[in-house]
Amino acid sequence: MVILVSGRGSNLQALINAIRDGKLPAEILAVISNEPGAPAVARARTAGIPVHVIDHRDYPSREEFDHALMQQIDAYQPRLVTLAGFMRILSDAFIGHYHERLMNIHPSLLPAFPGLNTHARALAGGAKFHGASVHFVTHEVDGGPVIIQASVPVLPDDTPEILAERVLAEEHRIYPLAIEWFLNNRLSVDQGRVLLDGQRRPEQGLIEEDISLNKPETR
Ligand code: GAR
Repeated sequence: MVILVSGRGSNLQALINAIRDGKLPAEILAVISNEPGAPAVARARTAGIPVHVIDHRDYPSREEFDHALMQQIDAYQPRLVTLAGFMRILSDAFIGHYHERLMNIHPSLLPAFPGLNTHARALAGGAKFHGASVHFVTHEVDGGPVIIQASVPVLPDDTPEILAERVLAEEHRIYPLAIEWFLNNRLSVDQGRVLLDGQRRPEQGLIEEDISLNKPETR
């Protein structure tokens, strides 16, 4: 796979570690960052992975940036393109090009809280639980068929930072799993839903009744 990053790179590190520890039979062919100074770049270099910086500020339009990104990715012919804290909205051409082989991790129980500041929004919204989702990327921002979700409780004294840490531990657990499923050809998409070994499994997402349970207490 090729991994795209923009920032801290803790999910990238979790994938590097999972491969190193023999838990994820995969190879990271290259890491591409749009941010030259991202800590993720240093993590990739330390792990001896080829790194490319493609700075979006060097391109006049999103389409041209995405085109450069595609060219660099395709030079490696990866089976999977993995977004790990890649904080750019991708063009339709890019998303179409990697149809059902472009994966993202997002820090919320999608479809709740797409976009930014998910932990603060979950707290402000009075959610009783929160979590992370791995999904195939479609034209919707932070949308697309969910591969796996993990939930954590929201506790009375939580701050966005404390809650983020609890969610991040789950991100690091579920991303390697989702990638392993993909690389072992265990995933399929049927009518917009991801199946694991041809079946829908509970850990892959909340059913509608669960989502309604996540409303704040009414007094
Ligand atoms: C992670 O929490 C990831 O879920 C989130 O950015 C963080 C990156 O952290 N991604 C998104 O919000 C995508 N919409 P990391 O650089 O330490 O992996």
